[in-house]
Amino acid sequence: MSETTDDGDERADDVDSRLRRRLLASTASAGALAAAGCLGLGGGGSETGPRDGDPTPYEPPTETPGSGNGGGSSEFDIEFLKQESTIAVGDDEPLLDAGLDEGWDIPYQCEVGVCGQCTAKVDGDGSELVEHDGNQYLDDDQIAEGYVLTCVGTPESEFAIETGMQEEADAFTEGGSEDGGSEDDGSDSGSEDGGSEGDVQTYDIEYVEQGGTIGVGEDEALLYAGLDEGWDMPYQCEHGVCGQCTSKVDGDGSELVEHDGNQYLSDEQISEGYVLTCVGSPRGEFSLTTGVQDEADEV
Ligand code: FES
Ligand code: FES
Repeated sequence: MSETTDDGDERADDVDSRLRRRLLASTASAGALAAAGCLGLGGGGSETGPRDGDPTPYEPPTETPGSGNGGGSSEFDIEFLKQESTIAVGDDEPLLDAGLDEGWDIPYQCEVGVCGQCTAKVDGDGSELVEHDGNQYLDDDQIAEGYVLTCVGTPESEFAIETGMQEEADAFTEGGSEDGGSEDDGSDSGSEDGGSEGDVQTYDIEYVEQGGTIGVGEDEALLYAGLDEGWDMPYQCEHGVCGQCTSKVDGDGSELVEHDGNQYLSDEQISEGYVLTCVGSPRGEFSLTTGVQDEADEV
């Protein structure tokens, strides 16, 4: 799900800056963003292992209450297995930030608990070892199994952690906790005339850039309907956060498209016709022009 189908590094850099701007404005993760320095888009997600520092032999971690962060906070010794190092992480510090501060290459993307790219695994019950503040990706079963999000997860105890576990966590939940369902939405049951198929209303949507008109169900994201056709569609986070899938419809987006999870576009942008295909489903027939994120950002 963390697939990146985009236009290269330059585009990703643009997204980075936009994401950062949006998230800074709308989330409480400003500190995390500032500490992170840069996002791992494009090539992000891959780890190259420890960059520097001497590998630290594992020692049973010990809690050091009250050290470091001033009154009231605690630090816990966290062993980062791939990085072969143990560091003290405050109970108010996201695990991702702590690792990035060490200069480690740790996978991440959205920094707000949405994309799942920072998924890691701890050696115990994640619900006991890690406090999540904003997890929107992992379900309770995954967390109980030890999967945690480092971007919004702070330690509650000492533990060992292995980063780069998104795929394993996804596989753990058969049938998936992935939103959006790019794999299985796809019966694009293309009814050509905007009728209903079963109980699902479908609408004829003209994809202008892709050169085709297809029937898209009211319960189907415009993005996945296009991808199922094999079309090149810009997108990245698939969760309404990054804005890369921003497209324009020939009318009021608030009437033509139902968004479920938009965190990028304003009401004004939507009324101007800008919509997110990853979390937008049709409520009428329209023409859709993809690849207009820059244009929408001007509104
Ligand atoms: S970086 Fe996206 S969920 Fe953590
Ligand atoms: S792909 Fe990120 S908002 Fe749609």
